[in-house]
Amino acid sequence: MKKVSTLWVLLSVASAAFITAVSTGGAGENVSPVYGVSLPEGYRNWRVITVAHEAGQNNDIRAILGNDIAYEAFRNRMLPFPDGSVIVRLAYEFKSSPENDAVFPAPQSFVAGAPTNVQISVKDSKRYSESDGWGYGQFENGIANPSVPLVNSCYTCHQKLDRSKDFVFSHYSP
Ligand code: HEC
Repeated sequence: MKKVSTLWVLLSVASAAFITAVSTGGAGENVSPVYGVSLPEGYRNWRVITVAHEAGQNNDIRAILGNDIAYEAFRNRMLPFPDGSVIVRLAYEFKSSPENDAVFPAPQSFVAGAPTNVQISVKDSKRYSESDGWGYGQFENGIANPSVPLVNSCYTCHQKLDRSKDFVFSHYSP
């Protein structure tokens, strides 16, 4: 009898630890700090919402994609975004293209160079209630950036946007 109850205790402790690890994204999983956001499967095939270019230090060119829930919300100007919306922003070096320029009368072609990073915003109003419903993550070469200050900067900046826009800057480009 004593043996059985010891085994039972061990099993309960083990399963509680497993559940905690799964729900919070335990050590070793490829998730962002603070929010536990992972790279969604198949995101590279999501539909394009819009594109953007940042000059200055970033000097990159970006594609913003959304999963089906986010895409429909963008298209129909549905705000706030429904739970389950996921937006990814893929950034690349902004490079001039001598190869393309060779066929133009003057240098004018700029293209995507090497990928720099992927940023992700995930809407889950319950899980992320302390950051107005959004969880954030940044990935380089498919690996979650472990910097807590970096990931905290996402909400610090996005929250500066008007609440009526649900903290999302981008708009759908037809
Ligand atoms: C200093 C302000 C600032 C910081 C910090 C910042 N963002 Fe943004 N973010 C923006 C702006 C402005 C845009 C729209 C223009 C653009 O894409 O460059 C944007 C766009 C996005 C988009 C496309 C959807 C949208 O909201 O328009 C995602 C996804 C995103 N950011 C995620 C993140 C994540 C994740 C982090 C942190 C790792 C982060 N951002 C940090 C200002 C910021």
